[in-house]
Amino acid sequence: MVDAEDGQVVVVTGGAGGIGRAAVLRFLEAGARVVFGDLNAENAERLLDEADRSRVGFVPTDVCDEDQIAALVGAAVDRFGRLDVMFNNAGVGGAFGPLTEIDAADWDRTFAVISRGMFLGTKHAARAMIAQGGGGTIVNNASVAGLGGGGGPTAYSAAKAAVINFTANAAVELAAHRIRVNAVCPGLVNTPLVMGKDEASIRERMPLFQPWPDLGRPEDIAGLVLYLAGPDSAFVTGEAIRADGGMVAWGPRMTGVADPRGLTSRYAGFADGSTGRPPTKRPITGA
Ligand SMILES: NC(=O)c1ccc[n+]([C@@H]2O[C@H](COP(=O)([O-])OP(=O)(O)OC[C@H]3O[C@@H](n4cnc5c(N)ncnc54)[C@H](O)[C@@H]3O)[C@@H](O)[C@H]2O)c1
Repeated sequence: MVDAEDGQVVVVTGGAGGIGRAAVLRFLEAGARVVFGDLNAENAERLLDEADRSRVGFVPTDVCDEDQIAALVGAAVDRFGRLDVMFNNAGVGGAFGPLTEIDAADWDRTFAVISRGMFLGTKHAARAMIAQGGGGTIVNNASVAGLGGGGGPTAYSAAKAAVINFTANAAVELAAHRIRVNAVCPGLVNTPLVMGKDEASIRERMPLFQPWPDLGRPEDIAGLVLYLAGPDSAFVTGEAIRADGGMVAWGPRMTGVADPRGLTSRYAGFADGSTGRPPTKRPITGA
């Protein structure tokens, strides 16, 4: 059984920043040994300076490159003797703009980081886990953008949808080896990826698409990753779990349940459909 609290060995991709960084710190706090990969060596050094270097290592890695992913997993096995948890997290916003304007090469690069990167991470982690025996857990960082339209740029969303489907198939295939594979689907999280450019405007618009009053923190996603990596989720596999402050639950928002400007928060009553009976409707005092 995988237990991050018992010196288990964890690999995190994109571990130098944002959600990956928070996950590295949470795994270390829980007693795990961690090797993380990233393209950003400067941020990686900053993280290493904060951590206990006897339990953490960094390998410069581009997740699009199969040899580099294999080397990252190999480094964890060489240094700490095994691999228990793989968190495929690295991601970029990728191609943006109207689909009629997206360069095919930018579309491919988006898929290379997001979908191919998660596939390569899963492939090489699974190889190591199968070789050592005893199972393991793999967590892929997807997004609410992969669950429907309107959650992110088109190429990004399609690549995240691929991650969610891949997670389900990998879970089925690897179950016989006691390797669990799950995905997390964050909503809006306060990391440089989304907040870097236009934080004030994002914070202003947030109440229009997220009912929970607080902005998501990288630690909120790291907590879910630790749950999926650990023994409390022993029977959970093939899942894609949202951590989005209720964003997707809010859905089409035609009724404006939590929006003070919405219809149902200004009136109360009963709509009787096509019964021929008139609806009752009364204004709410103070709305
Ligand atoms: N922040 C959000 O609101 C949000 C929402 C949903 C999903 N996500 C997903 O969470 C994951 C982490 O995002 P974040 O918000 O922490 O972003 P971030 O930009 O803060 O961190 C991403 C890290 O991945 C690294 N990286 C990028 N491309 C890489 C590559 N090819 N190889 C290796 N490392 C690479 C970056 O250098 C960076 O350190 C991504 O997969 C992202 O799509 C984020």
